[in-house]
Amino acid sequence: MKITNLAEGIDQLSINVEGILFESLWDMPKGVSINSYVVKGEKIALIDGVCGWDGVPESLYALLDRLEVDIKSINYLVLNHLEPDHAGWIEDFRKLHSDFEIICTDKGADLFEAFFGEGLTVRIVKDDDQLNLGGGKVLTFKTIPHVHWPDAMVTYDAATGILFTCDAFGSFGKLEGSALDDGYTDSEIDAYEAETIRYYSNILAPFSPFVIRAIDKLKCLDIKMIAPGHGLVWHSRVQKIMKDYLDYAGYQKGVARREVTLIWGSMYGMTEEAVKAAIEVLEVSQIKYHVHQVPISNWGEILSSVWRSSGVILAMPTYEYKMFPPMSAILEEIGKKKAQCRKAFRFGSYGWSGGAQKDLDEIIERSKLGWTFIEPHEFKGKPRDEDLQIIKTRVKDLIDSL
Ligand SMILES: Cc1cc2nc3c(=O)[nH]c(=O)nc-3n(C[C@H](O)[C@H](O)[C@H](O)COP(=O)(O)O)c2cc1C
Ligand SMILES: [Fe+2]
Ligand SMILES: [Fe+2]
Repeated sequence: MKITNLAEGIDQLSINVEGILFESLWDMPKGVSINSYVVKGEKIALIDGVCGWDGVPESLYALLDRLEVDIKSINYLVLNHLEPDHAGWIEDFRKLHSDFEIICTDKGADLFEAFFGEGLTVRIVKDDDQLNLGGGKVLTFKTIPHVHWPDAMVTYDAATGILFTCDAFGSFGKLEGSALDDGYTDSEIDAYEAETIRYYSNILAPFSPFVIRAIDKLKCLDIKMIAPGHGLVWHSRVQKIMKDYLDYAGYQKGVARREVTLIWGSMYGMTEEAVKAAIEVLEVSQIKYHVHQVPISNWGEILSSVWRSSGVILAMPTYEYKMFPPMSAILEEIGKKKAQCRKAFRFGSYGWSGGAQKDLDEIIERSKLGWTFIEPHEFKGKPRDEDLQIIKTRVKDLIDSL
């Protein structure tokens, strides 16, 4: 639990959440922070919520206590996004205090009713609507639909240039040191980027066209600080995080980084022998590469590296006339995230009929991934020297094509 003052009358409340799966699905080896913000004018607004996931509203109340904000003095809850990681605590909050207004978009109001029923006052806001808290604090709203849900909006304080963005510009990774990016060196921020890409690829990736639209829409604002619902507050690197997010959104349609992701699975080590040969080529080529074994590596990690890589190598055997099942499962998920237009190469072992390749072709086609494949190579049982040679040559061709 942590409080960070961002400007006169504007504080961040943040808690770290660990040991759970985000959306009950995505592993977070480094946890995540959930941030909310208190804006004090003559009236008080609380933007988004810090608890809900940990199921401990007391964490929010303890933070408000430390800020000397009486819960009953809160006039507005600004809900940029109704997903329960930010709004789940309202159920508890309303038991203590009910004389406040909810501020959200029309889509947010619909979700609010679905999650929390009726009985609270909801004010629907549209683009450029304002909420005057008095004391020089005027909040302006802009909708950013589908970043992440249809209800999403951002809240802007023109006086300080702080933009409260909820899921947009967020990152995984718990916050242990400074809550602001100013507290970190460029190389620390470079290392932290892995958590931003993992968050983006796991949570926001399918909505990339909306992310591009949102960033375009926000360009007209003089943004001095980006205060998201997850991860670091961006202050010295506002332009960088906006550009990074634009780049990540662009990775959906094809050219990503000059990196290769190798995903492999093998039951009895036949395909694995060829994987080792492929890795030798990647190693000497000095290209940045990521290796994941299915079903052992977690999906979030695999998606994160596929998202950033322009090249993908898939290695798996045939299993019951189809491909090795955990490989089709992750490819289906990659299809749903729409990591399109990669350069790719596939190889693998079979016993008698084969079938993995046909299965792969069908998934790629059905998911409209539009990947360009180098000629695949299949071998019966154990790979012979000729097989290993062919695979090495094609891995090199793939690298050269990036
Ligand atoms: C449960 C099971 C199902 C299999 N189904 C097929 C099949 O339908 N067609 C085929 O050609 N080979 C099939 N095979 C054979 C494997 O593809 C073959 O043994 C291959 O060498 C395994 O490579 P790996 O050691 O990399 O897993 C199957 C093997 C297992 C264990
Ligand atoms: Fe969300
Ligand atoms: Fe979120």
